[in-house]
Amino acid sequence: MNMMRSIVGAVIVAASFGVSAAEQTGSSANAMAIARSNACMGCHAIDRKLVGPSFQQVAEKYKGDPQASTMLEKKVKNGGAGVWGSIPMPSHPKMNDADIKTVVSWILAGAPQK
Ligand code: HEC
Repeated sequence: MNMMRSIVGAVIVAASFGVSAAEQTGSSANAMAIARSNACMGCHAIDRKLVGPSFQQVAEKYKGDPQASTMLEKKVKNGGAGVWGSIPMPSHPKMNDADIKTVVSWILAGAPQK
């Protein structure tokens, strides 16, 4: 009976650890899900250049720039070119502002994968 209780206890402890780990990674996971579902990852990767700059390059470029998030939110929404090369980024008029904010702040944080 005691044995049974400690097994049950261990399972509960393990399960609650699982939950708290998931909560900690929640915001990055959410940002990544938004980036994937809006096809950002078709042109961007976290750590290497594809069609557009890697998200880590973007974070590096704007480190310490307080205007960066507002500017980049507009750029994702409206598209644009000329900062990283001549290939333009298309506009994303259907994305809602909250999703854009979430993704841009995740990018500026260096696009952590957890
Ligand atoms: C069709 C390809 C394509 C898609 C899709 C795309 N991008 Fe881009 N992105 C680019 C290119 C190319 C650039 C470089 C533009 C430039 O040089 O100004 C860029 C630049 C950026 C920058 C840096 C802008 C700057 O001025 O420094 C950010 C941030 C960014 N993209 C985020 C996103 C997000 C978030 C999404 C998804 C909602 C996305 N991109 C989807 C191609 C793309």
